[in-house]
Amino acid sequence: MKIEVYASNTHVSKKDMDGKVVVAVDTLRAATTIITALHNGCAQIIPVEDVEKAMELAANMQLNNAVLGGERNAKKLPGFDFGNSPLEYVPEAIADKTLILSTTNGTATIARAADAKRLYIGALINATALVEELVRLGEDFTILCSGTHGKFSTDDILTAGCFIHLIRQRKVPLELDDLGRVAEDLYNRAKKGVPKALQGSAHFERLMSLGLAQDLDYCLTQDITDVVPVFRDGRIVLQ
Ligand code: MLT
Repeated sequence: MKIEVYASNTHVSKKDMDGKVVVAVDTLRAATTIITALHNGCAQIIPVEDVEKAMELAANMQLNNAVLGGERNAKKLPGFDFGNSPLEYVPEAIADKTLILSTTNGTATIARAADAKRLYIGALINATALVEELVRLGEDFTILCSGTHGKFSTDDILTAGCFIHLIRQRKVPLELDDLGRVAEDLYNRAKKGVPKALQGSAHFERLMSLGLAQDLDYCLTQDITDVVPVFRDGRIVLQ
């Protein structure tokens, strides 16, 4: 199985992802939020890159049980119902609702991979379930990390390494590109203490400075759920 890893959504064009099996990763925090919302009964998530378009869509869907969530620079947007903390998306808030979500980097990653043959959403909280799905599928795939503002983000690379590690444990012969090799090595050295390994990294420290330690604890816990979200026809739903 061939796995390629990209450090940031800005490193690819839509065409590069066309026809591939892709896993979109944004561990801190958009992917974790998406997985959590679906785990807690959200009916579907519509990712929208542009804030105004997200607001317009929410206004048009008002009668259809839609809520608006997201952030810019990790802060909730004015007029939005929710921010981007996965801990906000409890069953009482999200069950049976349509979530229209716009985030700084995560929704851009999904947009880049919108023409993929299959597009999964992955993070540490669904790592094992996602890997089991990928092994079952048995195809080469691409891990598209969101990164932060076009730059490499260690949390995403560690997550890519975690997926690779879990696949290797299942004795699948692997062919990795250079970033895949680095990701696996980084995860193997960090796996006993992922939060500690992220200390000092830019996005981790930014969220910590905003008082989001609980979010970090949650986002960096492996295998909280077996939900595997897929993007299909403009919506993210359960696999
Ligand atoms: C994003 O999509 O850029 C992130 O999820 C930012 C955040 O942590 O809120």
